[in-house]
Amino acid sequence: MKEIGVAIIGCGAITRVHLDAVVGSKMARLIAVVDSRKERARETAARYSCQWYEDYRTVLADEAVEVIHLCTPHYLHAPMAIEGVRTGKHVLVEKPVAINVGEAEKMIREAKINGRYIGVSFQNRYNPTSLKAKELLESGQLGPVRGIKGLVTWYRGHSYYAQSDWRGEYATEGGGVLINQAIHTLDLMQWFAGDVVSLKGNVSTRLLNDIIEVEDTADATINFQNGARGIFYATNCYTVNSPVEIEIQCTKASLSLRGEQLILIKDNKQSILVDEDGCNPKYKSYWGKSHGIAIACFYRSVLTNDSGGFISVEEGIKSLQIIEGIYKSSSSGKEIKIKNS
Ligand SMILES: NC(=O)c1ccc[n+]([C@@H]2O[C@H](COP(=O)([O-])OP(=O)(O)OC[C@H]3O[C@@H](n4cnc5c(N)ncnc54)[C@H](O)[C@@H]3O)[C@@H](O)[C@H]2O)c1
Repeated sequence: MKEIGVAIIGCGAITRVHLDAVVGSKMARLIAVVDSRKERARETAARYSCQWYEDYRTVLADEAVEVIHLCTPHYLHAPMAIEGVRTGKHVLVEKPVAINVGEAEKMIREAKINGRYIGVSFQNRYNPTSLKAKELLESGQLGPVRGIKGLVTWYRGHSYYAQSDWRGEYATEGGGVLINQAIHTLDLMQWFAGDVVSLKGNVSTRLLNDIIEVEDTADATINFQNGARGIFYATNCYTVNSPVEIEIQCTKASLSLRGEQLILIKDNKQSILVDEDGCNPKYKSYWGKSHGIAIACFYRSVLTNDSGGFISVEEGIKSLQIIEGIYKSSSSGKEIKIKNS
């Protein structure tokens, strides 16, 4: 099988997960890593036996590199991805797609113009719990979704924000708990319940006002196109990183996802459908263990020219539209209509 030449830009916290997936893949070969902090790039390259660079444009100029992974701060996603597709690379970008909807729309346009793919790392869609829930919802056996609830109660303290200078500021992170931590849950909620038409929401900073300008707590009441109602709450002010909870109420039964467990509740009886140990001890438990699957799907799509085989920016933009809506609603106090892409 042909091996795709890969370079990874950004050698920070999440990068090990990408590196392990690349070196473990029969579809890809790691050519280089890049970091503007050259010690990080050099150390990472030494561990993974590849080339290293300080300037990402070096890998864009390298014809052997066909796919770039962007593991960089949020504000760099759109400009780097656009430059990537303009120089002929396929791009796999970490979440969020971009720091706002406008930038994500530009990425969609540029990917089309240049005939290249941009995929987004929403790895939690590939969790066994998510896949099984989606399959059951699509089968029709639960009936239509009437309500969906998403709860993210995590902890991010001073040290988390001190580790990386781009976190905690609107210009570089694009937001707080919504765009960084809870975006996976918003992505899953709309993936399960369908397009969002309007919402009313609120954001606030309750714990770390002295060091961050972004929100650490957010909530929303969400109206879906199919008439379902969503309730969403997320905070970085809890004491631990509790498992994310999503409950889906359908007319004939309901589903409860909690961490790596999926339970079906029907006729007052509970059945455990999925119960997995989701943690890879090498990584943070809340990253889950599906990054490798998401990356493999992207590589397979590149190799087989299948634009439907990975999570595209057209999909990834939906959670950003919800997030922008919550910010707008919070500042205006009004219900906000959501434009569906
Ligand atoms: N999918 C997930 O579950 C998940 C989990 C954690 C982080 N992430 C995402 O991964 C991305 C990176 O997050 P992180 O926590 O690893 O951040 P980080 O700060 O630990 O790492 C970012 C790295 O990018 C480097 N960098 C900054 N500017 C650069 C430039 N111009 N050129 C090259 N390198 C540059 C920094 O030096 C740093 O090493 C973010 O988008 C984040 O939201 C996703």
